[in-house]
Amino acid sequence: MPPFAEARVDLGAISENIAALRRHAPSSQVMGVVKADGYGHGMLPAARAMLAGGATWLGTAFVEEALELRRAGIASRAVAWILPPGAPLVEAVDADIDLGVSALWLVEGIATAAHEAGRPARVHLKVDTGLSRGGVVTDAWPAVVEAAARAEAAGLIRVAGVFSHFACSDEPGHPSIGAQLNAFHEALEVAEKAGLRPEVRHLANSAATLTLPESHFDLVRPGIASYGLSPIPDLTGTGLRPAMTLRSTIALVKRVPEGSGVSYGHRYVTDRATTLALVPLGYGDGVPRAATNTAPVFVAGRRRTIAGTVCMDQFVLDLGDDGEVETNKVEAGDYAVLFGAGDGGEPTAQDWAAALDTIPYEIVTRISPRVPRVHVGGHEAGQP
Ligand SMILES: Cc1ncc(COP(=O)(O)O)c(C=O)c1O
Repeated sequence: MPPFAEARVDLGAISENIAALRRHAPSSQVMGVVKADGYGHGMLPAARAMLAGGATWLGTAFVEEALELRRAGIASRAVAWILPPGAPLVEAVDADIDLGVSALWLVEGIATAAHEAGRPARVHLKVDTGLSRGGVVTDAWPAVVEAAARAEAAGLIRVAGVFSHFACSDEPGHPSIGAQLNAFHEALEVAEKAGLRPEVRHLANSAATLTLPESHFDLVRPGIASYGLSPIPDLTGTGLRPAMTLRSTIALVKRVPEGSGVSYGHRYVTDRATTLALVPLGYGDGVPRAATNTAPVFVAGRRRTIAGTVCMDQFVLDLGDDGEVETNKVEAGDYAVLFGAGDGGEPTAQDWAAALDTIPYEIVTRISPRVPRVHVGGHEAGQP
């Protein structure tokens, strides 16, 4: 029995998206970003599909995520860049995971972990060029660079990379973009003068990979675009294809009279006798409650808008009289598609993001573990 609700993930699309991104950045290596369970797509199959598409690096937020890659036998270069106190640094060094460094105390902590592991740690120094999130602020940069150079001379670490992250690359032309590029060049110069020779300098996320060649350096780090979603809604010619389709079979179809209040709070009331369809997906599955009376769902060849409140396990669609026409009769067991690649008329995660005033990242990443991921296409299909 196939699951009644599923997030189908087209692994071939992920591989092809990486190949397309390589064409956008032909002189750079590609790091596929697989944090947060591969933006909800399933980290391990997504990672394998990215490597099959030509990515040579993988990126995670946390060491634990990178360790999971290693436990699954994925041996490619992998960087973890959020290291709160208590992060398993010795295990990371043991497992040959590259570590992002955003503070002086991390240089020291990683050097100690390397000593304990009995092998040098590979680190990527992260400079804060204007995002004011992770990274070393420019005032503190020379001290971190000097400490890293000392630890490198002592054989405890190897500075494999210097990197930074954009704040507004999804708004091409934003004045912060040029300022961050300049700050990155200055930080690279400081590192160079201290004798550091990183093998990869990297700055570009998806938006910059697609629109800003001068940011590509040695390595680009696309996340959302690897999954086929554009960080810039109206960008054309990207060659990307959305990999995830969220769909469910309809649990129940029924006729109700005019004036029927639908779902909790009666936020939708039928204006005529009509046919309702119950879709067994709700906020417990990661469908935002804010989709109430707002988000589009594709049933029987047409887009409908969710009717009434999204509940924990279910929501309702008003099919009007469509479901009654014999040639187009909607029945329990038929599919409702919340979003997909868009080429069959179904909404995309971008359409959901636009309807809910959010970004497609949140739409795909928040789909909960309750919804089985079904991986299709690509030679990794079927792997856990
Ligand atoms: C350091 C870093 N690099 C790359 C990415 C990928 O960004 P995007 O999904 O916009 O390509 C992220 C995601 O937040 C990140 O934190």
